[in-house]
Amino acid sequence: MPCALETKFISNRLRSAGVLLLLLSASIQWQAASAAGVDAAVATGNVAPPADTQALESEQKAIAALRATLPRLDYQRAMYHPLHFKPAIDTATDGECLVCHAEVLDARVRMASPAGVRADRSSVWYQTLATYDGEQMNFHQRHLTSAYARAVMNLKCNFCHRGNDPREESPDFTVAAADMRANNGQAPFTLRKMVNPSTTCLLCHGAFPDPLQIMSLPGPWPEARKVMESPEQPNGCLLCHAAAFRTHRHRVSYLNAANIEDLAEESSDVCYGCHGGRAWYRNAYPLPRHAWPGMSPDVPEWARGRPVHSDARYALEPIEP
Ligand code: HEC
Ligand code: HEC
Ligand code: HEC
Ligand code: HEC
Ligand code: HEC
Repeated sequence: MPCALETKFISNRLRSAGVLLLLLSASIQWQAASAAGVDAAVATGNVAPPADTQALESEQKAIAALRATLPRLDYQRAMYHPLHFKPAIDTATDGECLVCHAEVLDARVRMASPAGVRADRSSVWYQTLATYDGEQMNFHQRHLTSAYARAVMNLKCNFCHRGNDPREESPDFTVAAADMRANNGQAPFTLRKMVNPSTTCLLCHGAFPDPLQIMSLPGPWPEARKVMESPEQPNGCLLCHAAAFRTHRHRVSYLNAANIEDLAEESSDVCYGCHGGRAWYRNAYPLPRHAWPGMSPDVPEWARGRPVHSDARYALEPIEP
């Protein structure tokens, strides 16, 4: 990763850490001022609502209570622990899951594969993006604890794990009527995967949305960018997305919208990284299409039937009916 980008997101993190400390130390004033403060931050799409001390305290209490029950749990009871199922899964905190699953963040990748290929000497195509940094990590670490993940996202265990049925290896247990459409309108089994990729991974690992039809670009991004980018203009996406199109974006609790825009000034790989640069799928997620200032009232053919708001579970702004 280029130094500039790295320094920038580290300084961003320090800045948000600083803000958090300030908030905590002035918690009384903060509570009085919070209504105005939170509204302002959300209105500019800046940051996820700051962790409030009350929520932190109740999380600590829940963790302590859970720990106290551990001596009475055997393996089977732990496997079928109510936290794995609805409704508890919806409000479970990462700290509670980690009481029993600390290994998902602690386990490090092997130094070398059994065949002797060293991890520190290998890289794959997506690791050539300007944002990729640091030693090889496991999947959970790359989404929850890598410096870059923490800069641009705010994922929780239950963003991906919406439940865990050990028998069906599915996030959806006894399937409730409301969940019969949990899989993008389909019944909820996706080949016995523990998480539903269509509603999680696809959001950030889909293909680049049709460059010709949707964005009127001359070709695929790796070609198109050649004529749009220069050292002075390192992010070609922003030629169109800084002010002209879809400027109302990322106002969801699992993304750090302001950090994304900040980092994106240095490289289009920030944007492309979640919109085609690490594509595990040939299709793109049908993103919500929020109205933006200057938007034409005509809805293009490809956008018919798109939602106009983020998923209510994560939206930072009230959704008008
Ligand atoms: C009281 C301990 C405990 C808690 C709390 C707990 N789990 Fe589990 N979980 C288990 C056990 C034991 C298993 C079975 C593990 C196995 O067979 O590999 C399991 C299985 C799983 C599996 C399937 C793993 C596999 O290899 O089949 C997932 C995914 C999972 N848990 C996620 C979570 C999440 C997310 C949370 C928080 C909402 C959570 N768990 C909370 C103990 C717990
Ligand atoms: C970005 C999505 C995502 C997030 C966030 C996430 N997981 Fe997972 N997790 C997965 C996927 C995908 C698998 C592999 C599922 C499969 O094999 O079907 C997995 C597997 C697991 C397993 C099974 C053991 C293993 O390592 O394969 C456990 C336990 C687990 N996750 C717990 C957690 C806990 C606890 C958290 C929060 C600290 C968490 N996960 C956050 C996507 C996620
Ligand atoms: C909110 C956006 C988001 C979601 C949802 C998401 N990812 Fe990612 N993923 C990222 C980002 C950002 C990175 C790069 C992190 C880094 O470089 O540290 C990444 C990296 C990866 C990597 C590379 C890891 C490595 O060590 O090189 C894999 C594999 C991956 N994601 C798979 C998945 C799968 C499978 C899911 C669904 C279970 C998923 N992701 C969900 C944003 C996301
Ligand atoms: C030549 C101008 C242009 C460039 C450069 C451009 N876009 Fe777009 N983009 C558009 C237009 C126009 C739309 C559609 C606006 C609308 O909703 O009517 C769009 C839509 C999108 C969408 C939403 C697609 C959907 O299905 O809702 C995403 C995501 C996106 N662009 C990401 C990017 C990224 C990432 C880059 C750089 C790698 C980029 N764009 C470069 C013009 C551009
Ligand atoms: C960490 C992953 C990530 C990064 C980095 C990222 N995006 Fe996104 N983007 C998303 C996700 C997830 C959504 C869907 C959010 C929602 O449901 O509202 C989205 C939504 C969008 C949309 C649709 C906006 C609408 O109408 O709601 C556009 C356009 C877009 N992104 C462009 C960009 C551009 C340009 C950049 C770089 C400045 C960028 N993205 C960086 C993950 C990312």
